Amino acid sequence: MTTRPFVVGNWKMNGLRANLAEARAIDRGAARHPGVRVAIAPPFTLIAAMAEQAETMAIGGQDCHVAASGAYTGDVGAPMLADAGAVFTILGHSERRANHGESDALVRAKAEAALAAGLEVIVCVGETEAERDAGQAETVVCAQLDGSLPTGEGVPARVTVAYEPVWAIGTGRVPSVADVGAMHRAIRTRLLAIYGEDGAGIAILYGGSVNPGNAAELMAADEVGGALVGGASLTAENFLPIVLAAAGPPSE
Ligand code: 13P
Repeated sequence: MTTRPFVVGNWKMNGLRANLAEARAIDRGAARHPGVRVAIAPPFTLIAAMAEQAETMAIGGQDCHVAASGAYTGDVGAPMLADAGAVFTILGHSERRANHGESDALVRAKAEAALAAGLEVIVCVGETEAERDAGQAETVVCAQLDGSLPTGEGVPARVTVAYEPVWAIGTGRVPSVADVGAMHRAIRTRLLAIYGEDGAGIAILYGGSVNPGNAAELMAADEVGGALVGGASLTAENFLPIVLAAAGPPSE
């Protein structure tokens, strides 16, 4: 791992103001691991409050609209996320691709909108179980990368990729460390093809049923630059050991 590991909690549609205390506990714990970049993407309703309280963590969104503002009832524009204190947004999560019919082209347009608003982007990719069983996992993921990633001057420095096999999300099932490494190597090869040498610096996070018990071995797999954590990011008790695992063994 060449750059600082990045551990991101995706709170999905979880969290009320009462849970801000938990986020503060995570923030305090994160301060003890300056070698790890820790972030939470709470629901939109908590971004501003969490961003005001966080001293160490980065706060981000879970999605944004392609337009900055306008007649789009229920949607949130990237400048609004930035205005609320977000510094990044997750895009193309499989739950958005599946539940909201988001295409690669839409994910890319959203990424361009987020970058234009000054945000970093975490672009999610991942195969379904049927695609893996059919031997198509790498083909599917590479096509998602080709179609979803924004390009342009200065863009790679503000892009993170999250590999989240759909069948591993919320299921307690994880790919083998060898399979994670193989996919992350394939993603790195694709990033180099897309971005040239700038693709070498892009963090590739693993996501899908990461927990305190499996984080260390997943994080040690080839080309894994951190984790995108769902359920286990909701409490300091579960999330901080994952941050610790990303920090690696003590050097003394
Ligand atoms: P779980 O960690 O709950 O499996 O969720 C993973 C995920 O989708 C993070 O974006």
